[in-house]
Order: sequence, then structure tokens, then C-alpha cells
Amino acid sequence: MNLRKRLVVTFITLLSLPIMFLLSSLTLVFVIRDPLLSRHFVIQSIWIMTAIMILFVLIVTTWVNRGVFKHIRELNEAMDHIAKGNFDYSLDENRVDGEFRALFKAYEDMRLKLKESTEERVRDEAQNRELISNITHDLKTPITSIKGYAEGIIDGVADTDEKKERYIRTIYDKTKELDRLLNELTFYSSIDNNKIPYNFKKLDVVDFFNDCVDEVGMDLENRNIYLSYENLLDRGTLIIADPVQLRKVINNIIGNSIKYMDKEKKAVSIRLLDAVDSVRVEIEDNGKGIASKDLANIFERFYRTDASRNSSQGGSGIGLSIVKKIIEDHGGYIWATSKEGEGTCMHFVIRKYFETKKADEESV
Ligand SMILES: Nc1ncnc2c1ncn2[C@@H]1O[C@H](COP(=O)(O)OP(=O)(O)O)[C@@H](O)[C@H]1O
Ligand SMILES: [Mg+2]
Repeated sequence: MNLRKRLVVTFITLLSLPIMFLLSSLTLVFVIRDPLLSRHFVIQSIWIMTAIMILFVLIVTTWVNRGVFKHIRELNEAMDHIAKGNFDYSLDENRVDGEFRALFKAYEDMRLKLKESTEERVRDEAQNRELISNITHDLKTPITSIKGYAEGIIDGVADTDEKKERYIRTIYDKTKELDRLLNELTFYSSIDNNKIPYNFKKLDVVDFFNDCVDEVGMDLENRNIYLSYENLLDRGTLIIADPVQLRKVINNIIGNSIKYMDKEKKAVSIRLLDAVDSVRVEIEDNGKGIASKDLANIFERFYRTDASRNSSQGGSGIGLSIVKKIIEDHGGYIWATSKEGEGTCMHFVIRKYFETKKADEESV
């Protein structure tokens, strides 16, 4: 029964009781004419009526208490839990009806929303802490090297021209690494604000990848990683893409292949495949691989597998989230396949651009 009905019934009951009492007393006085008997009768009936009234009032009070005040107390207690930051205290709306059902439901909605946003905040804070500790680690490693090699030159440890040159080159490489890290961070903040500076243009896929492979090939060769490159695309295949951002994708994926490599005979292969109206790129390594439980999460920002989190290698866990964002902004999609201990393959697909089709469309 809803609150209004309950109050109306209570009000009518309480009002009708004294009226009934008065009416029945008067009736008795009139019906029984004998003054002695009537007095005795009236007194007795007053007692009986009073007892009935008290009983009625008790029943009605319990009824109102059960239907109203009990729920108000429950709500009060629930609010206390919320105020103390305990968002696990739930109220079952199916137990009650009327206005209280709506109130309990509103409480539950509020509780779940608060719980969700609190959990999100805690997660964000943990991620930020981890990000800061990873960045610190990432920045510290090259800085320590730069400092060490610079000291080597100052202290005269690099005593030959050849050694000096090697030291300076290492310092230069480490500075480049720092630059790359800082760029990744700047880029990351632009991702968060949805402000990636895209410059889309028609791109010849084969030409683009030939250049890319030339560039990463040298780096991989210096690291003793064997690179194989296979191109099954027709010459002149076009896509609409931003070459700078697409290069970022390749560098990030290959950067991971280098970073998570654990084999003696290291190998990376790049394949360009024709998928009818799309171009499919596969970049495979024979590194330590990713456990199947982690595979679906590696594209989430800040996600790092336990194995890489526990390793001495730094990392922010944002590389692949940037990669995914760029590929999706190109209208494509990306996924990974991997076998733990054997290696990982990143696949991405971008739609081809057909110039003739466009010309046909224009002529229609
Ligand atoms: N080629 C790979 N081999 C093994 N693990 C990988 C590879 N690429 C990515 N991962 C896993 O995916 C996680 C997320 O990658 P990424 O977003 O680039 O972050 P980061 O490299 O900074 O840790 C890595 O921490 C690593 O655990
Ligand atoms: Mg990475």
C-alpha cells in the first residue's frame, strides 16, 4: 500500500474511533433507562471501548511503523553507510512497495553510480602512480648512461679517439631515446585531448613500407635481429593515411618486438598482404610472447602484462593504446596473436583507396 493510502486509513481509523465510542455510549444511555443499571453499564462499556481503542491505536501504530518508519530508518542507516564511504550496503527495492520502492531504487542507483566512480577514481590514481614510476624509470635509464659516458670522457677513460667517438655516439643515441620518450608523453596527452595532428594524404603502401623497412632494418641489424620482409601487394596500391603517424605505429610495434625479445636468434618479419579491398600488415617476432589472458588487454592504455611489469624494463603501457587509436582513426583495426614463449604477431588492416572508383563515382 502506498504512503498516502496508509495515512488516509490511519487518519480515518483514529478519527472514527472516538466518534464510534461516543455514539455507542449515547445509544446505551438511551436504550437502558434504569439509572443504576445504565450507570454501571456505561462505566463498563467505557472500559471496554477504551481497551478496544488502545488496541486499535496499537495495531495502527505498528502498521504505520512497519510500512513507513521502518523504511525511513533503513534508508537512514543506508545513507550513513554512504556517508562513511561504504558503497556495498544495498537495499532491496522488491521488499517494499509504493513510494518506498521508488526511494529504494533511487538509493540503489545512487549507490552503484558512486561505487563505480569511486572505483574508477581509485583505478585512475593507481594507473597514474604506475605511469609516473614507469616514466621515471624510463627517463632514468638513458640519463644514467649519458652521465656515465660523459664522465668517462671527462675522466679520460675514453683515451683514444675511437673510444671517444663511441662514447659520444652512445650519448647521442641515449639523447635520441629521451627525445622519443618525451615525444611519446606529449603525444599521449594530445590523445587524451583528442588532438592528434593528422595530415592525411594518398599513400603508396609499397613505397611507404620499403622506406620504413630500410629505416628499421638498420636499427634491427645493429641489434643483431634478423629482419625478413615480404610484400604480396600490387605496386601502386594506395591508402589514405598520415605517413608520420603510421610510422609511429610501425616504430611502436617494432620497439616492442625489440624490447620483449628473449631469444638468442632474434627475428622480426614484416608482411604486406592483399585482403581484397584492404591492405593487411603483419609484424611478427619470435620474442617471449603474450599469455592468452593478457592478449585482449594489451591495447588498453597503461596495460602491461605481469611479466613485463615485473621485468627490469621500463614502459608506460601506452605504446599500443596509441597504436590502436591511430589505426582506428585511419578507419582500420588492429589485433594481436601470440604464443607464450614463441612470439607475437601484430596484424592491422587499412582500407585501400581506389582512384578509378572515385573517378567513376564523380562521373555518375
Ligand atoms: N612484441 C611483444 N612481445 C611480448 N609482449 C608484448 C609485445 N608487445 C606488447 N607486449 C605486451 O603488451 C604490453 C603493452 O605494450 P605497450 O602498450 O607498448 O606498453 P609498454 O611497452 O610501455 O609496456 C607490454 O607491457 C607487454 O607486456
Ligand atoms: Mg611499448
